[in-house]
Formats: sequence, C-alpha cells, structure tokens
Amino acid sequence: MRRTDDTRSGFDGGIAPGTFGVLAGVAEEVVVEPENLEGALRRMVVGLREGLGLRALTLSASVTEGRGLEARSGVAGGTAAELPILRGKKHVGTLRAYPGSLDDGRREVLRAAAGVAALALDAAYAREVAAQKTAQGSVVQIASEALGVIKEEGDLYRTVLVLTLELLDASGGAILLGDGGVVSLGFEGSEETLEALREVRFLGRSPWMGRIGGHHLLGVGLGGDEGAVFLTRPTRPYTEAEGVSLKLVARQLARARERSRLYASLERTSTEAISALAAALESRDDTTGEHIRRTQALAGEVAEEIGLRPEGIRVVKYAAMLHDIGKIGIPDSILNKPGGLTQEEWRAMRRHPATGADIIGRIAGFENVVEAVLAHHERHDGRGYPAGLAGDEVPVAARLISVIDAYDAMTNDRPYRRAMTHEEALAEIERGSGTQFDPAVVEALKTVLHHGRK
Ligand SMILES: [Fe+2]
Repeated sequence: MRRTDDTRSGFDGGIAPGTFGVLAGVAEEVVVEPENLEGALRRMVVGLREGLGLRALTLSASVTEGRGLEARSGVAGGTAAELPILRGKKHVGTLRAYPGSLDDGRREVLRAAAGVAALALDAAYAREVAAQKTAQGSVVQIASEALGVIKEEGDLYRTVLVLTLELLDASGGAILLGDGGVVSLGFEGSEETLEALREVRFLGRSPWMGRIGGHHLLGVGLGGDEGAVFLTRPTRPYTEAEGVSLKLVARQLARARERSRLYASLERTSTEAISALAAALESRDDTTGEHIRRTQALAGEVAEEIGLRPEGIRVVKYAAMLHDIGKIGIPDSILNKPGGLTQEEWRAMRRHPATGADIIGRIAGFENVVEAVLAHHERHDGRGYPAGLAGDEVPVAARLISVIDAYDAMTNDRPYRRAMTHEEALAEIERGSGTQFDPAVVEALKTVLHHGRK
C-alpha cells in the first residue's frame, strides 16, 4: 500500500480526490498492483464502456495536439472525445472515447479515467526505476563485498568477471589493462573480438556500447590509462541501466585495485622489515645469512612437492624465514650455550614459538604465518610443544618447517657439534618419520633432495 501513497502524491493530473469515487475499485486496482497494470487498464476500459454506455474507448500512446477534452465529430461514425494523458506536464498518450452523447457527468468521468491512466504510467515507471535500482544495488553490493576481501590483483580481475558475467547476463567478459595485459572469461573462440577490443581499451568512465563480429558489447574505462572492462553477449544489445551497473562495478574495481596495490606495498615493507629482523637474529645465532635463504628455498620446493597451492607455498616460505624470530627474546648465554641446558633455560627456549607468533601477529597479511610459527616445534606424535598437537592438527606449514629446520640444522655446524653429511642427516630424519615428523613431508623432502642431487 505504500506504493499507492507514493504514486498518488507524485501525480499532478489535477483530479479532485472525490472523482476517484466514480472509478471506485478500478482505480485502486491499477495503483495498488502496478504489476497487473495492463490487465487493470483493460478492466478500466471495459468498465467505463459499460458504465457510461460508450460505443468504444481506447487508450493509446499516440499524442494529439489538444490539451483538454475535445469532442470531434465524424470519427468512427460518431463523436469522439479525446483526452490527453498527462504525466506532470508531459503529454504521453491519448484517451479516446466514442460516446453516443457527451454530457458533463460523462466528461468528468473520462477526465478521471485519463488521470488514472497517467497514474498507472507513473506507477509503472516508478516500478521500473525501483527494479533498476535494486539490480544495480545488488551488482555493486555483491561486487564490493567480494572485492573487499581480495588482496591479489589477479584474483581481483577474475572475481570481477565471474560476478559481472553472472549479474549482467553476459556470455563473455574481459579486462584489458593499460599495459596490454588481458584477463578474460568466456571469450573462447572469439579471439578476434578480444584483439579488436585491445584497440579501444582506453575508454572514459562513461559506458560505451558497440558491436564487433555479431556480438553486442558494453565497456567502461577503469580511469586514466588503466584500461577497461568489457562485457559481450550475442543475444541482445546492452541497456543504459546495465551500462550504469558496469560503471559502478568498474569504480569498485578501481578502488579494490588501489587497496590491493597498497596491500602489496605494505607487504613488501613488512617483509623487508622482517628480513632485517631475521638477519639480526641470525647474527646472534652464530649461523650465516645463507641459512635462512637455503631453508626458504628448500621449504618452497618441498611445499610444492606435497602439492600446496601458491598461497600455501608463500606461507611456508615466510614461516621458514621467520619461525625462530621469537628467539630474539632469549639471552645469548642460553642461545649459544655449548653444553646441555638447565630446566629453567629450556623453559625460556620453549617460549620462542609463542614469542615469534606474537611478533608476526602484529604484521598485516601474515595471519597464516602466525600459526605455522607457533606450531613449528609440535611433533607428529603429539609430544611437541607448546600445545601438544598431533598429526593433522599441526598446520601443514609447521609440519614442513619442522622437517626442513631439523635437516638444515644437522647438515650445518652448530656451536655444540659438527655438521653431519646429507646422508647421515636424511637417515636421522627418516628415523623420526611417524614420531617426530609427518611421513608425507619426509617423503617429499627425500624426493626433492634426490632430484636435486641428480
Ligand atoms: Fe624453533
């Protein structure tokens, strides 16, 4: 019913409220249910014809010159009364009645009927606008929610395409970047179109519509010389409303891309700071800078071997670099002590995973690295520390670091012992497989080392 009030207050047809009484029921129906607009108007026409004894009544979108009720004779064998249908001051259609005779009462009713028709058009228009707004709103809202959580620029473009293809009913989509890069979806078999789009990729921010090779196209620039996003479909041309939606998506994309670039530079800065921290730690630990780089490279290869995805490999590499960062809080006297440690010293030593996790936890974007650092002294059999996790409870990056770190420590000199050979170290690791170490990771390490030695 809210829509009834809105529509009525927006109507400027100059009909006295009492006049609606003449069209009681019919008018209400037209206004309340604009979805049934056509049916309601048809019922109104039939009702008026019967009620007023008209020979014919038509509503049409054609516009006549008259601004008021005009009676013309000699049309369709009788007198025709024509009334403009006005939306505000705009003349949008004509009501024609062919009465046997036209008295004041009938004229009044016909004026009201023209007003109702205008009102119905208002309602239909309002509904269309509302539907467009809803469609635009949902596209933009969904896109912005999704884009808000994406940090990699490449993922960003793919997600935008998947979403806009779905929401704007496109068969293909492409983002053509200013530097010539292309991310496309659903363009299989139309490489020529994609090539042609490359030529027009420096669009402004206003929607562009075109046709290439029988495909309807819609494009919007991403701002400056950043490139553009295009949609294509073979079935029908794009509408202005769809253009507006894509424009809003492009704006969200530009913002999300800005965020992702900021994020990348933040991560770079953090990584540099952490590398410096790790280097400082190394110098205390009497190991060389080579240690961290070697551990990182080997960890990356083993991570790949056990089938981790790029994000998982990234976590492993950072964890390899940072897992012992918590040792920064341990006094040199304990860290470099040649002999065995006292119970108190062990307690201090065992705090380093938690201290490290605490340090890493303050760096944006390293959330997944935190749990690997915290758990890198857990054991496969649950007898590790600090939490005593076992098997799969131990994060995979931590399981991996624990094997790599042990291997690397054994194959390099330490204050308290000489380095073992690779064979001796590997044999030692294999002895710990299934107790200290995850057997799958031990196997992966063997494979990597075996390949590396060939
Ligand atoms: Fe450690």
